[in-house]
Amino acid sequence: MAGNYEKLIDPFGRQIEDLRISVTDRCNFRCTYCMPEEGMKWLDRSAVMSFEEIEQLARIFVERYGVKGIRLTGGEPTVRAHLPVLVEMLSKLQGPDGPVDLSMTTNGATMRLLAPKLKAAGLKRVNISLDTLEREKFFQMTRRDELDNVLDGIKAAQEAGFAPVKINAVIERGTNDNEIVDLATFGREQNVEMRFIEFMPLEADGHWMTETVVGQDEIVEKISAVYPIEVMSARGAAPADRFRYLDGGLHGADGPGSRIGIIPTVTKPFCGDCDRVRLTAEGDFRTCLFATQEFGLLEALRSGESEDQLATRIEAAVGTKWAGHQINQVNFTRPTKSMSQLGG
Ligand code: GTP
Ligand code: 5AD
Ligand code: SF4
Repeated sequence: MAGNYEKLIDPFGRQIEDLRISVTDRCNFRCTYCMPEEGMKWLDRSAVMSFEEIEQLARIFVERYGVKGIRLTGGEPTVRAHLPVLVEMLSKLQGPDGPVDLSMTTNGATMRLLAPKLKAAGLKRVNISLDTLEREKFFQMTRRDELDNVLDGIKAAQEAGFAPVKINAVIERGTNDNEIVDLATFGREQNVEMRFIEFMPLEADGHWMTETVVGQDEIVEKISAVYPIEVMSARGAAPADRFRYLDGGLHGADGPGSRIGIIPTVTKPFCGDCDRVRLTAEGDFRTCLFATQEFGLLEALRSGESEDQLATRIEAAVGTKWAGHQINQVNFTRPTKSMSQLGG
C-alpha cells in the first residue's frame, strides 16, 4: 500500500507528512499575541474554501502523497458553521497508515457544546489554548471573559474521549510567565498534556520583542525546581520537545498529565525536522509559518485544473520550502499576515 504513494520531498530532503488546514480566518477571541482588538478585515465567504474544495485538496495530499496527519485550524475552527460535516468528510481519507490522523487546534470556548459531535464525526485529537488560570488575565490576553467556558470545554473534550487532550499556553514575559508552575500543576491535576509555547513574532500589533520571549531553558528550570522532569526521546517532526515528570504525575505514568511539551521556535528552532505545510482559509498553500510566498491552490482548483495540474503546483511549491525561519537574524522578514490568517 505504502509503495503506491508519491513522496513530497523538499530541497532539504524533508518529507511532507502533515497538513494544517485553516477552515476560517474568523475568531471569537482577540488574543493579543495573534490579532488586533479591532480592524481585522474578514475574508468574504465566497473567498473561503467550501467543504468540498477542502476535501478535494486534502485528498491529493493524503491519497497521492501519503500525508498522514491533517490538523484543522483557524482563526477559530469551531466558528465555521457545520464543522462536524467537514470532519466526517475528512475522516474518511485513507493514508499510508489507514485513516488520516485528524486533529484540531481550538480556543476551547465552544468545546463544551461541540465535543461529542466532533468526536462522533471522526475527529481524533484536540489541542486547546489556555494561557492563564486567572480570570482577569484571561480577559487581558484574549479580550474575552471566557475562562470558565474554556475550562468546561477542556473537561468536555476529555469526557468525549479525545486522547490525549493537549493544552497550549503561549508564555509572554511580564504577562503570564509567573504562572508557568501553576499551569504545570493544572496539567498534572487535570491529566492533560500542558504545552508551553515560546512567543513568536506573529502578533498583529507589533509588541513582540526578544525580551518578551520566555525561552525553553527558563521554562524547564522553573518547572523542575518544583516538579523534577527529564527529557523524553526525540520529538521527530513535531514542534514540541517533551519532558516527563520523574514522579510519574498524579494519574499514571502513561497519562497525558505525566508529561509536558515545550515549543521552542525562537530559542531552539526545529525547522530541520519540519514535515508540514499549510493551506490558508482562502486556499493559499504555504510551506512555512513564516513563508513570504503563497501558492493559490484554490484559485487553480476553481479555474478547473485537473488533479495532475494541481499536483504539479504543489510539487513546485514544496520545491521552494526553505531551510528554516530566521527570527534571530537581521534579515528576518515578518509575514504580512497575522497568526489567525496563517492558521496557527
Ligand atoms: P501536535 O500534532 O499535537 O504535535 O500539534 P502541534 O503542536 O503541531 O499543533 P498546535 O496547533 O497545537 O500548535 C502548537 C504551537 O506550535 C502553536 O503555537 C503553533 O503556532 C506552533 N506551530 C505549529 N506548526 C508550526 C510550525 O510549522 N512552525 C513553528 N515554528 N511553529 C508551529
Ligand atoms: N506565538 C506563539 N504561538 C501563538 N499562537 C497564536 N499566536 C501565537 C504567537 N504569536 C498559538 C495559539 C494556538 C496556536 C494555534 O497558535 O496559542 O495554540
Ligand atoms: Fe483566535 Fe486563536 Fe488568534 Fe486567539 S490565537 S485570537 S483564539 S485565532
